[in-house]
Amino acid sequence: MSKLNNWINERMSVNRVVEDHLTKYYAPKNFNFFYFFGSLAMLVLVNQIITGIWLTMSYEPSGEGAFASIEYIMRDVEYGWLLRYLHSTGASAFFVVVYMHMLRGIMYGSYQKPRELIWLFGMTIYLVLMAEAFMGYLLPWGQMSYWGAQVIISLFGAIPFIGPDLQQWVRGDYLISGITLNRFFALHVVALPIVLLGLVVLHIIALHEVGSNNPDGVDIKKHKDENGKPLDGIAFHPYYTVKDIVGVVVFLFVFCIVVFFFPEMGGYFLEKPNFEIANQLKTPDHIAPVWYFTPFYAILRAIPAIGGSAFPGVLAMGAAIAVLFVLPWLDRSPVRSIRYKGWMSKVWLVIFCVSFVILGILGAIPGNDFRTLVSQICTFLYFAFFILMPFYTRMEKTKPVPERVTG
Ligand code: HEM
Repeated sequence: MSKLNNWINERMSVNRVVEDHLTKYYAPKNFNFFYFFGSLAMLVLVNQIITGIWLTMSYEPSGEGAFASIEYIMRDVEYGWLLRYLHSTGASAFFVVVYMHMLRGIMYGSYQKPRELIWLFGMTIYLVLMAEAFMGYLLPWGQMSYWGAQVIISLFGAIPFIGPDLQQWVRGDYLISGITLNRFFALHVVALPIVLLGLVVLHIIALHEVGSNNPDGVDIKKHKDENGKPLDGIAFHPYYTVKDIVGVVVFLFVFCIVVFFFPEMGGYFLEKPNFEIANQLKTPDHIAPVWYFTPFYAILRAIPAIGGSAFPGVLAMGAAIAVLFVLPWLDRSPVRSIRYKGWMSKVWLVIFCVSFVILGILGAIPGNDFRTLVSQICTFLYFAFFILMPFYTRMEKTKPVPERVTG
């Protein structure tokens, strides 16, 4: 074995890569619960790719055959039901994990200098993930697949001048049809997963260049021992690999409970109208996207149309995502972690999270006047969190940051 090891390492230094990224990559010793979600996101990504490959073996990407092939997978393919539920639950789990991961970044200022690029890669991952989930949802060719895609693609039509042509170009047809299904299939199973994997690699390379942040937001590289090892750092392997396995086991426990006992999650993971085949002549009573898109859908509906055009809503929805990209440049605080920021940052973070959740709930249920008003207020607060950030982060009094990590 050691001969083989030497032979390989003389030609390609695997040992160096293992040292740089695992055994001699020193991570802060005070990682907490919120630091589990990066490795969990990787786990879910792997789950989606593996179950996706096996689903593709029995799925038929055509307007005529798609719905029936899903039924075939569910009923006739050996363990097909398990593959499908692992994949559909995995999609929702991906967003749960990624939202927790992003919240961690926001709480501990992990996007601040020198980690802006990690954040930008992360946001690009999030954008591609949304496209990936949206396209995947058309594939079962159920009522909600069809009408959900109809609503979202028609938003392109609201863009002035180029809208109608763009909409037709995306669909590849005058209506959503088998042609749309085919291109979404190609993008969902080949193009976007490759992009996602590439982005995750870049995300980790950028992270390992500057090192991880931590719940205290202090720089562990300031205090090193005589060998250059940070005093508050521990080797990623074995310490965090073992710790992450604990997170993985707990996660898989919850994940399996959902897969085996609540795969539809009361219509939130697999929506009820999607058990009916897509019908161009019958609109479902209530069209709502899957839960992870509903906050943005609520923002879209909160903004009134002008002259019958939904463009202002589309713009607001786009801005709600775009503003997250520039977060590193909005936060002017001299400290990173919420632990040492002033009360205004804390209050605004709570307002932001509560508004996001309320928008998520409102986006999932039919609208009325009162709900529209609430979603308008929450949309306002959502944007206020970002727009006022340069001011409150500079004005407020921060707490002294410790030299070394605490606990
Ligand atoms: C497929 C999706 C993703 C995967 C697999 C992934 C993976 C990871 C991993 C393994 C880490 C290091 C461990 C940790 O800090 O938890 C990390 C750190 C980080 N990620 Fe992600 N990530 C994903 C999406 C995102 C998104 C959407 C964002 C934000 C928009 C983001 C922002 C960050 C930041 C800021 C860090 C550094 C955190 C720190 O050092 O405190 N990531 N990511």
